[in-house]
Amino acid sequence: MRGKAEMDRRGLLRGGLVGLSGAAAASLIGCAPGTAMLPPPEPMDLGPFSCGIASGVHSDTAVVLWTRFAPAALAGPVQVAWQVASDPGFAQIVQSGTGTGSAQNDGCIKVLADNLPAGQTLWYRFTVDGLSSPIGRTKTLPAPGSTPASVRLAVASCQNYSVGYYPAWRAIAAEDLDAVVFLGDYIYEYAGSADALDVRADGSVEATDLPSYRAKYKMYKSDPELRAAHAAHPFAPVWDDHEFMNDYDRMSLLNFPERAAAAYQAWFEYQPVWPINADQIYRRARWGNLLDLSLLDTRQYRDPHITGPNGERLLVGSTASLPLSQVHDVGRSILGTKQRDWLLDGFSQAQSDAVTWKLVANQVMISPIRILDLDEPALRALRPDLPKHAGVYASFDDWSGYSWERDQLTQRVAAEGISNLGFLTGDIHAFWQSQVLRDFDEPFSPVVAQEFVCGSISSKGLDYAGDFAQAAETAVRTLRPGFRYADFRRRGFGLVNCTPSHASVEYRTVNASTPDLNAPSAQPKRRVRFDWPAGTQKVSITRG
Ligand SMILES: [Fe+2]
Repeated sequence: MRGKAEMDRRGLLRGGLVGLSGAAAASLIGCAPGTAMLPPPEPMDLGPFSCGIASGVHSDTAVVLWTRFAPAALAGPVQVAWQVASDPGFAQIVQSGTGTGSAQNDGCIKVLADNLPAGQTLWYRFTVDGLSSPIGRTKTLPAPGSTPASVRLAVASCQNYSVGYYPAWRAIAAEDLDAVVFLGDYIYEYAGSADALDVRADGSVEATDLPSYRAKYKMYKSDPELRAAHAAHPFAPVWDDHEFMNDYDRMSLLNFPERAAAAYQAWFEYQPVWPINADQIYRRARWGNLLDLSLLDTRQYRDPHITGPNGERLLVGSTASLPLSQVHDVGRSILGTKQRDWLLDGFSQAQSDAVTWKLVANQVMISPIRILDLDEPALRALRPDLPKHAGVYASFDDWSGYSWERDQLTQRVAAEGISNLGFLTGDIHAFWQSQVLRDFDEPFSPVVAQEFVCGSISSKGLDYAGDFAQAAETAVRTLRPGFRYADFRRRGFGLVNCTPSHASVEYRTVNASTPDLNAPSAQPKRRVRFDWPAGTQKVSITRG
């Protein structure tokens, strides 16, 4: 639990910034002069707005605004007014309207604020009967066809509440960003445990129905650092598995339809995402002709995991023979046909529209973690029936469980010459960097994309495995194709900056073994920086 004195100190620091000019405040908080100020601090008592506020990336003219209005008793529907202004003092109101909170949506209010100016930092708040929510800062996408000087994104995932504090969110809140891309595992559906590794009490029950999924979001949003990140930046979130259940696939939705419906309903209630079509969350955001971001759903349409003789899911092992050789089956899909077509057509469209960077918000790793390569000419001479890409893999919950579809993607990207394609990945609670090859069993295969795996906000990595983590980091560099960077021991996030000529990705991390990750001194530091000149696959690495 954060101490009141500490909150007061931080609150005063941020509150003091509000009265300063933009340049003065920016220099104090370490941003470049002229960057937009942080939102004012939350009041100590949020009253009925206890979950804070949030906004979501939507279009060049609209943002999604979110809050939860939850007085002690929410009897009937409540009209909540919202305002969007061009300044944090709300002297210039740009748009306003009302939304409705009711017990039916757990008090969550989500509105699409439209007719906004393109590419602008804006400020928003909600009010009910004279009660005001905290103030949030958001930003619209730039006008189509425009060329922004840069786009700066934080990339985050996996924020298990009980195992860690959120210094990463504290650092993200202080950055000057266009958006936060969240790659899933916003909540963990497990029951709270009394594990010795837990750092804060999580008395929650396993989420299985609407009240218990909603309770998870409320518990996670009780963290002030997470709320501060939401207040500071628009989010572009997708879900991974733990928003519903561990390692799920499309059969899970058929086997547990009511639980899936509850999980998805709670996600849509609590995330600043405007519904597109029922439970579809894959979608696209464009920053002019600088960046095209495809946000994926690699969960709800994926073919089921291969199972063993007792029906158990097989998530590691050799694909040389049945049953795991089925992971290489033609037609086996992690995206589903419709989403695959949408993704690949989107790459083509972005390329023909001369959009420089094409990034993919991708839950699970596309680079194979193949511990043993069995697709070798000598082995094939002995075993002509070996499937293409045969090997011993560390996980079939990622794209390696769907190798035919990965080949479809890499071959089409290579054939069409899609340039500057990068995968931003979560899920695995570690930091990686690798080159995605057209065919990783071909000795001189061209590189078709780069992958940046951006760690976890708090969820456990291999740091709990002691010395093994370091040995594993070394080992994965020797795989074929090897990983250029691997860090299994730290928590944090990725920071992506795109300009017309260059992209960079930094990993900002704290050591997971830091004694008090809740202390303000636990500041994620830049551990590594990758520089990627546009039009090349030459990504250079600078440590520190
Ligand atoms: Fe996770």
